[in-house]
Amino acid sequence: MRRDIAFIFPALLVVGCSSDARPANLGPCDTADGQCIFRHDTFGDEQLWTDMLRLHEVAQTLSPKVALSVGLKVDAEAVPPDVLASADLDAPATTVALISLDAVVGLRGVVENGTITKLGITCALCHSTVDNSVAAGIGKRLDGWPNRDLNPGAIIALTPGLPALAAQLAVTPSAAKAALSSWGPGRYDARFNQDKESRPVLLPPAYGLRDVALETFTGVGPVSYWNAYVAVTQMGAHGNFKDDRLKLDIRQEPDRVTPMLPALRDYQFSINPPSPPVGSYDAVAAARGKALFEGQARCAECHTGSSFSDAPKLHTAAEIGMEPNEARRSITGMYRTTPLRGAWQHPPYFHDGSAATLLNVVEHYDQVLRLQLSASQRADIAQYLRSL
Ligand code: HEC
Ligand code: HEC
Repeated sequence: MRRDIAFIFPALLVVGCSSDARPANLGPCDTADGQCIFRHDTFGDEQLWTDMLRLHEVAQTLSPKVALSVGLKVDAEAVPPDVLASADLDAPATTVALISLDAVVGLRGVVENGTITKLGITCALCHSTVDNSVAAGIGKRLDGWPNRDLNPGAIIALTPGLPALAAQLAVTPSAAKAALSSWGPGRYDARFNQDKESRPVLLPPAYGLRDVALETFTGVGPVSYWNAYVAVTQMGAHGNFKDDRLKLDIRQEPDRVTPMLPALRDYQFSINPPSPPVGSYDAVAAARGKALFEGQARCAECHTGSSFSDAPKLHTAAEIGMEPNEARRSITGMYRTTPLRGAWQHPPYFHDGSAATLLNVVEHYDQVLRLQLSASQRADIAQYLRSL
């Protein structure tokens, strides 16, 4: 990594500062600016990440090299050349400088006299990455792409405030630490603090959702319902969330979440899935795969419409041969048909990552649904999935 720095500089020198709107000093975004909300708004969640977990103290001591190793990403467009000209990826001071520039994707902090005094997280932490155009982990933002390198459990487990969080959950600090440390990169359990089971799911994309009626792997509700749940109960946002089914009625005034939801939803709906790279699949095989997908292989019985999902219809674990626990833990008890556009971009597959490749997905269905597809038919369907 150290050797890359000389190579990084010239590229960074030309990118300069991005012009996108960023609220000053952790202030809220404009309620009409969905992109700003998605990228930069913490909704007041410093009450969790600073006041309780003290993530800012950890960030103060992390070199960019270590930060990149837990999957954090640097928005190269937010970094002025003079800062990068003196950047040392082994020096924690560089991390502090990057945070002061709001250049660490999904983290927002206040830096006073070289010290991070407040730090919060944004939606972009888990649902954005960068295009690595400058170096691994450093480049232009890719909003909506799941950050499968990010290890949220490990990051929380590193915080000095973990015992306070454990106390709130009524588990021992060592049990909390063991659970969080077991999740691994690209995974998070958004129900751990409700039922204390530890069964993380993959961080899903936040693109391609415009025509999808229900969100999450288990279809718990429309996008704004889930956004409010995540913001208030997971990110620690300062706002309101009520769901009688979950026996939750959280009220914190001023509510920094609810006024943001319409623009945040519209922004997510505006993010299209990425097209497959040119030459990344065999078009002739994909055409054969499409016919199988819509016919003999029965995929289109559930993967229907422009987004390839029949939501709001839901399915039992047994129907598709899934592990049952995620459905059991959810208020719906079922699985939503995952939309498939952009699937090429985010292996592994299924909510638990049990299929490493798209071919493994097809093999799974071939067995569970007793499709009796030949090897070349399975390969053709996988090529079709790569083309979506
Ligand atoms: C700590 C990581 C993390 C953060 C931060 C986070 N999410 Fe998520 N998000 C997840 C996980 C994990 C899931 C899957 C949950 C499930 O299916 O039960 C998810 C699911 C979603 C989905 C559903 C996707 C689908 O295919 O249905 C949307 C939409 C979403 N998040 C948007 C947001 C927004 C908006 C924010 C900010 C308010 C946010 N997320 C913050 C981890 C995160
Ligand atoms: C009975 C309905 C049903 C049928 C039939 C079906 N699927 Fe699915 N599919 C689902 C559901 C539900 C999920 C979500 C499973 C999970 O992750 O828990 C899913 C998930 C997937 C995923 C994972 C996407 C991701 O991002 O993780 C792929 C790929 C997929 N299906 C492809 C196919 C193919 C190919 C076929 C035909 C061979 C098929 N499906 C048949 C309902 C169905």
